[in-house]
Amino acid sequence: IQYTVFDSEEDLAREFAAQVAAIFRDKPTGVLGTATGSSPLEVYRVLGRLVEIGAVSLKEVKTFQLDEYVGLPEGHSQSYRRFIEENLVALTDLRSYNVNVPNPHLVGTPGVDTLDEAAAAYDAAIKDAGGVDFQILGIGSDGHIAFNEPGTPLDSRTHVANLAEQTIIDNARFFGGDRSQVPTRCITQGLGTIMEARVIGLIALGENKAQAVRDMISGPVTPDCPASVLQNHPNVRVYLDKGAASLL
Ligand code: F6R
Repeated sequence: IQYTVFDSEEDLAREFAAQVAAIFRDKPTGVLGTATGSSPLEVYRVLGRLVEIGAVSLKEVKTFQLDEYVGLPEGHSQSYRRFIEENLVALTDLRSYNVNVPNPHLVGTPGVDTLDEAAAAYDAAIKDAGGVDFQILGIGSDGHIAFNEPGTPLDSRTHVANLAEQTIIDNARFFGGDRSQVPTRCITQGLGTIMEARVIGLIALGENKAQAVRDMISGPVTPDCPASVLQNHPNVRVYLDKGAASLL
C-alpha cells in the first residue's frame, strides 16, 4: 500500500483535499464516499476553502456516508447524518439532497420492514448512483474501517453490525465521555462494498493508530485487521502523520 507521512495535519489535509478536488473537477457529477470522526475534519475545512475560491464545486456531487448508528433519535447531534451536514455541507456547496447516509429510520416506511432491508437498499443505491469515485476513510485503533470490526468477512456488503467494545470506548468522547450513551449497533458499508470504490484515501492521525496502520500495511490480509483488505485494492493511498507512522 502506498503511504505518505506528513509533518502536520494541515499539510496532510491540503494534499488530501487537492486530490479530492482534482477528481471532482474531472467529474463534477461524481460520487464521494464520506467518513465521520476526527480524522477527516481538517480535510473538510480545506475542501470548504477550495470551493470558496472556485477551485472545485460539489454542487452536482452525490455523497454516500460509510456508516450510521442505530438507536439514536432522528436528528441526534451525534448522528452521522448531522455530522456530515455540519462538517461538510455547511462548509461547501454540496447539496443536502445529494447526501446519502444509511438510515435506520427507514424501517416501517413502504418497502422497508427491517434494518437488513434498509442496509441492502443502501448498497443498491450506491450501485445505482454509479459507484463511489473517491472514498475517504479513517481507521479505528482496532483496525476497523467504517464499522467493520475485526472478524468481519472481507467480502461483506452493507449490513447491520455491533460495535466492538474498543470502539465504544474510543467513541465515548463524543457522548460526554459516557460509554453507556454510545449506541451498540450500526448500519455499515461492508468491506466488499468499500473495496468497489475506484480510488481510496485513508487518513490516520496519532500514535494510538500506529499498530493498526502497521497491521494494515505490512501484516497479512485477514479479517483480524479489516483494513488489511485494502492491500488488495489497486488504487489506495494512505495519509499519515508521524505518530500514526511511528511503527512502520
Ligand atoms: C467513521 C468511520 C470510522 C472512523 C474510525 C476512526 O464514519 O467509519 O471507521 O473512520 O473510527 O475515527 P477517528 O477519525 O475519529 O479516529
